[in-house]
Amino acid sequence: MTSPSENYDAIILGAGGAGLMCAAIAGQRGRRVLVVDHADEPGKKILISGGGRCNFTNVGAGPGNYLSANPHFMKSALGRYTPADFIALVDAYGIAWHEKTLGQLFCDGSAKQIVAMLLAECGKGSAVVRCGQPVRDVDHADGRFTVAYGGHLASAPKLVIATGGPSIPKMGATGFAYELAKRFGLKLVEPRPALVPLTLGPDEALFRELSGVAAEVTARAGKTAFREAALFTHRGLSGPAILQISSYWRHGESIGIDFLPSRPAGWLRDAKRSRPKAGVRSVLGGLLPDRLAEALAERLALAGELANLPDKVLESAERRLADWRFHPSGTEGFAKAEVTVGGIATAGLSSQTMEARAVPGLHAIGEAVDLTGWLGGYNFQWAWASGWACGQAL
Ligand code: FDA
Repeated sequence: MTSPSENYDAIILGAGGAGLMCAAIAGQRGRRVLVVDHADEPGKKILISGGGRCNFTNVGAGPGNYLSANPHFMKSALGRYTPADFIALVDAYGIAWHEKTLGQLFCDGSAKQIVAMLLAECGKGSAVVRCGQPVRDVDHADGRFTVAYGGHLASAPKLVIATGGPSIPKMGATGFAYELAKRFGLKLVEPRPALVPLTLGPDEALFRELSGVAAEVTARAGKTAFREAALFTHRGLSGPAILQISSYWRHGESIGIDFLPSRPAGWLRDAKRSRPKAGVRSVLGGLLPDRLAEALAERLALAGELANLPDKVLESAERRLADWRFHPSGTEGFAKAEVTVGGIATAGLSSQTMEARAVPGLHAIGEAVDLTGWLGGYNFQWAWASGWACGQAL
């Protein structure tokens, strides 16, 4: 590399939620900050999030809503920069918002307002944001990081990896954070797609005929359960309950679906007493979407009136409906995943400053790190909180 033409206090790679928050905070603390992104505009994932309205936080966000090899790592940042802090910022910009469900906050207007707000905050700190600039090389010598991007060279004593995870490559997502981490000797937790639809193999292909049918269910993987809507698709299973559970599911495992989570134990036996002449198909038809009731009744293969079916048979059918086993063949992959589970191992990072213990001056924030939230505004809250914590330390 030739000698740097631009000197900064910190260079942030990635102008997503985490990188922009970090740049705004560090800039407002008087640091000279450069943000570099290869995409043609900043905050592209913010712009498409929440159906264009950005589910920008969740009022209930806490450590229990996140997956990481270290379940304590997020506590410091989430405790110091809370959903209330972000809401105060949104309010200060006069951005109207509403709670949709389960503590999820969305803009009334557009996600563009959140990006404009973050850029305005960067402007207040005189942070320089350069988009459409591929990073060609990153060098580290004599306590300084030198970044070759576009036709420029910039150098700083601090470098922040904020390039996210590989989910949705067509939005500009890459595994660049992992390449950089490896180059600096940081360990990775195997990344895998999360908040992603699951696919069903040929044995369960019949369920694909239900494509478009949705129902409120409880979905389980191991000890984790989510009660939300599930949706049958032409490839398998989707909908919030399935996306949530996909983050916990591992290849080869089964998932359990309770199709009637509101029914008390013994409900089918009780139905036999109150509606002895009804069949299983018609009882299910009163509780579930018609096509789903038909498909489940067909698979339960219990013909005739309830009155003629022994209690034990009904109890066993009830158990099956409460924990219907599916054996996903896989997921729809990074192309359809909202986030990535895994990433830069937290064991090598300070939870206070996000700085790599082994490489002073190098930081990693946001989705690049092995820290993944549930569906519902939790991932942005992590982006803001980790960006804020890092920005305080630059
Ligand atoms: P993010 O991916 O946002 O930013 C990384 C930046 O780095 C990008 O701008 C990218 O272009 C850049 N970059 C990558 N490689 C680079 C390279 N080699 N050189 C230079 N720049 C590079 N979360 C939530 O809480 N609420 C929601 O409503 C949604 N909705 C949602 C919808 C969809 C469709 C997706 C895909 C995701 C969501 N999410 C979400 C998740 C949320 O978008 C995600 O967790 C955050 O955007 C992560 O923020 P980061 O800043 O860490 O990465």
